[in-house]
Amino acid sequence: MLRQSYHDVLQKQITLAPQALLDIGCSVGMSTFALQNTYPQAQITGLDLSPYFLAIAQYRSFKSCAQPAPTWLHAAAEATGLPDASFDLVSAHLIFHELPRDAAIAILQEARRLLRPRGHLAIMDMNPQSEVYAKMPPYILTLLKSTEPYLDQYFALDLAQAIYDAGFDRPTITSNSSRHRTLVAQAR
Ligand SMILES: C[S@@+](CC[C@H](N)C(=O)[O-])C[C@H]1O[C@@H](n2cnc3c(N)ncnc32)[C@H](O)[C@@H]1O
Repeated sequence: MLRQSYHDVLQKQITLAPQALLDIGCSVGMSTFALQNTYPQAQITGLDLSPYFLAIAQYRSFKSCAQPAPTWLHAAAEATGLPDASFDLVSAHLIFHELPRDAAIAILQEARRLLRPRGHLAIMDMNPQSEVYAKMPPYILTLLKSTEPYLDQYFALDLAQAIYDAGFDRPTITSNSSRHRTLVAQAR
């Protein structure tokens, strides 16, 4: 449901279906295959730091036989080695809350480099403005931080401003669950 609510926002706000799409932090491919269902004509690249997750993603794509099969890339999203202006959409689904501030900013700059003129960046992640976090008992929040070491940095970062500073128009911000938000911005 969470993925679908994200894709609903994408489809509403991105009127021209992307032909080339990069899924950063794709893990075992769940977000990549979901994007493929929404944009079946697109050539999709899934990128992740973990070769183990990517091996599972690749195994799954052999099994599914869906065409065009995604391309899998082992790289840091901060420095992908991919050519300039090669994507219409860069999607980041549940990765930004895992990043230290400097990495988050470097990834926004890399996404800007990778996008074609007026291409889109879309980020779906925890919403620091959500009441759920404001009302969360401190011990639960501490428990959450024990598996998410950069959560404080993510909550402190003004992501909309950082997106703008990286060379995008000001993003739209849409709540797509009680504690998640989707930011969509077009390359300036
Ligand atoms: C919570 S998972 C999200 C998985 C997937 N997007 C989904 O929605 O199912 C976050 C992923 O981001 C990857 N990751 C974290 N930092 C990264 C970076 N700097 N570059 C590339 N991948 C990164 C992790 O290896 C992990 O697979």
